[in-house]
Amino acid sequence: MIRTMPPLRWGILGTGAVATAFAEDQPLAGAAVRGVASRDGRRALAFARDHGIAMAFDGYAELCESDDIDVVYIATPHPFHVSHALIALEAGKHVLVEKPVAMNASGAELLFDRAAHLGLFCMEAMWVRFLPHLAFVRAMLKEHAIGNVRGMAIDVSRSLAPSPESRLLDPALGGGALLDMGVYATSIAVDLLGPGAVAAAKARWRENSVDAATSFLSVHSGEVMCTASVSADGVGSNQVVIAGDRGSLVVGPRWNMPSDVVVRDAEDRELRRFDSRPAGRGMWLQSLAVQDAIQRGLKQHPLMPWSQSLQSLILLDNVRRIIGLTYEGESPFGCR
Ligand SMILES: NC(=O)c1ccc[n+]([C@@H]2O[C@H](COP(=O)([O-])OP(=O)(O)OC[C@H]3O[C@@H](n4cnc5c(N)ncnc54)[C@H](OP(=O)(O)O)[C@@H]3O)[C@@H](O)[C@H]2O)c1
Repeated sequence: MIRTMPPLRWGILGTGAVATAFAEDQPLAGAAVRGVASRDGRRALAFARDHGIAMAFDGYAELCESDDIDVVYIATPHPFHVSHALIALEAGKHVLVEKPVAMNASGAELLFDRAAHLGLFCMEAMWVRFLPHLAFVRAMLKEHAIGNVRGMAIDVSRSLAPSPESRLLDPALGGGALLDMGVYATSIAVDLLGPGAVAAAKARWRENSVDAATSFLSVHSGEVMCTASVSADGVGSNQVVIAGDRGSLVVGPRWNMPSDVVVRDAEDRELRRFDSRPAGRGMWLQSLAVQDAIQRGLKQHPLMPWSQSLQSLILLDNVRRIIGLTYEGESPFGCR
């Protein structure tokens, strides 16, 4: 007899841009969002109405305490990720926490320790990891399609022109390019190259002391060099290029969205190409993976384990130490 488990009941904390993208994509995962919470109950009601969500909560704790929610998606600005995730965990809920999972590695450690202690699932919402083109990249590297990997160049750069009140410009909301976009770079570096050490970094600053752009160099096992260019005020290639001693691998046009992959040999001849795209935005693949992991009783997902979120944040912490990026009230700052 085949027994199917009932779909998990999702709740969302926050009603901003990424909460909207998540709610729009979620039906493709076969488990609709059951509740949404806002700091302002009227916003929760409007969001629930717009997205066909049954329950609207006036306050985050109220949603977390509901018996009708199994897993909570934390879609608030980065400085609140740990505290909001802890509200959900302490109420017995599994959590999917937007990126970066914490402002620094110490914050992530605290969160993961608590999830482990409570025996609940917790994952950084690095949804890109669950996209099929990155599975293809991992498979190509595993079968040495470009030989030994020597280097990787990552570009995450867009001209965002945020409104003056945007979280991207506000230091109190963890503003700046590095934490918002740079975490994609450190995460894929750790995913494909393993832990690394930051050798150099440089930022260009906005007037209010958040970074408009940051570039850095990290060195990974086997002296593989990784350069990352992260910018919120200039449009770049938005590609990942991996250099091997027998060829190259290019991911684009925007590698941290559903993308193509082209594998070439040392003479620039195309060997392989991946160009299929998931339905919707592709965020639902992450929801599906989270549901599957929770239903199998896992506390971490093997594709986005706690150790890799920590290694990614350690890289960011060390870039910040070099460029001197600090946030008031952030404590402790976990450079190591
Ligand atoms: N995975 C992705 O593709 C992706 C894309 C964009 C952003 N993100 C991440 O998701 C998080 C949210 O980003 P976003 O672009 O959705 O931000 P946003 O549009 O500014 O929305 C953030 C939401 O958080 C809630 N919030 C709670 N405390 C807040 C405070 N003190 N100030 C402002 N808002 C507060 C607000 O909802 P209520 O007031 O209604 O509660 C607000 O609507 C960030 O950490 C970001 O890195 C991920």
